[in-house]
Amino acid sequence: MAEAADSLPPAEVLLSKRVQELVINQEELPHLYICRKSGEAADEEQEENVSSDPLSQIPVIDLSILSASSSPSSEHDGELQKLRLALSSWGCFLATGHGIPSSFLDEIVRVGREFFEQPMEEKRKLEKGVEEFEGYGGDPVPAKGQPLDWSDRLFLDVYPEDRRKLKFWPENPPSFRDVLQEYTVKMRVMTEAISKAMAKSLDLQEDCFLIQFGEKAPLQARFNYYSKCPRPDLVLGLKPHADGSGYTIILQDVEGLQVLKGDKWFTVPTISGALLVLMADQMEIMTNGVFKSPVHRVLSSSERDRISLAVFYTPEPNKEIGPEEALMTKERPKAYKTVKDYADVHWDYYQQGSRAIHVAKV
Ligand code: OGA
Ligand code: NI
Repeated sequence: MAEAADSLPPAEVLLSKRVQELVINQEELPHLYICRKSGEAADEEQEENVSSDPLSQIPVIDLSILSASSSPSSEHDGELQKLRLALSSWGCFLATGHGIPSSFLDEIVRVGREFFEQPMEEKRKLEKGVEEFEGYGGDPVPAKGQPLDWSDRLFLDVYPEDRRKLKFWPENPPSFRDVLQEYTVKMRVMTEAISKAMAKSLDLQEDCFLIQFGEKAPLQARFNYYSKCPRPDLVLGLKPHADGSGYTIILQDVEGLQVLKGDKWFTVPTISGALLVLMADQMEIMTNGVFKSPVHRVLSSSERDRISLAVFYTPEPNKEIGPEEALMTKERPKAYKTVKDYADVHWDYYQQGSRAIHVAKV
């Protein structure tokens, strides 16, 4: 199945080819995608670390209770407490009651799928260079020895509008641009509501995180397409990592994403209409470590392809962010330094296959 060890193509060459092409052409599995051990022993080891505990599940938070001033205060306070507990133990939650109709979520998944279903020549019109972020392709070339992800993606800056590079925005399907524009508006509303709710859950001034992020805090949209894989025991759709943004909002059409809690992986369920809100390193820094930025990964599947849309919400470029004053106490002394453009540092470490958060530790 895997290639012979001689004449191995380097990552640059592999990354100039899409995973979807390898699958369509039924090519051999290139060695650089292999990142998991196969065989019985590995299966046991991997199985053991996947939680099957039905009582321990990613928390679901109803954002409508948190934003409605008409909710009874006990219900409101209860949901805020649930939010704080979710983010300090799991580092993520499934958001319902966010005001985005399920039909619209289905619509953006549909246009995303339609984009990836087009012939290669169509998609290649939006192709990025192997060292670039924005556009259609794979991740930029990782450090030597690092495996590649079994996925293709379309990465676009969506906010503020003057950062958009429309040459990378699909014209097909014809509604793609309008749907993405509308989703961006909804993500702006949602990040404002979540940032306020998180502050309230920590007894902080409601706007404190919004002020740290800044009025023009960028949003980036990444459509991830995970092709079916004949050997899901050997590859990962996305290798284990924590995000370098402030936080990330993820929409998925089928299961595949897993979050690490303790030493166990938990599968994020697909609940119709729900969005996963996932803390990233910069929220861990701003909360002085109260909220956790969890490691997560995506499995590949031999049965189903999968699409997800991750929207990264990151503090403005060049803006210093740091732990909120009120979260540094005698019991919890300052654990993180003030940082700026952390996402860049994060990326350098990501390419080496490691986390960057230690760089910000006191
Ligand atoms: C990411 C990510 C998860 C997914 O893009 O950083 O973690 O389900 N995506 O695709
Ligand atoms: Ni991620």
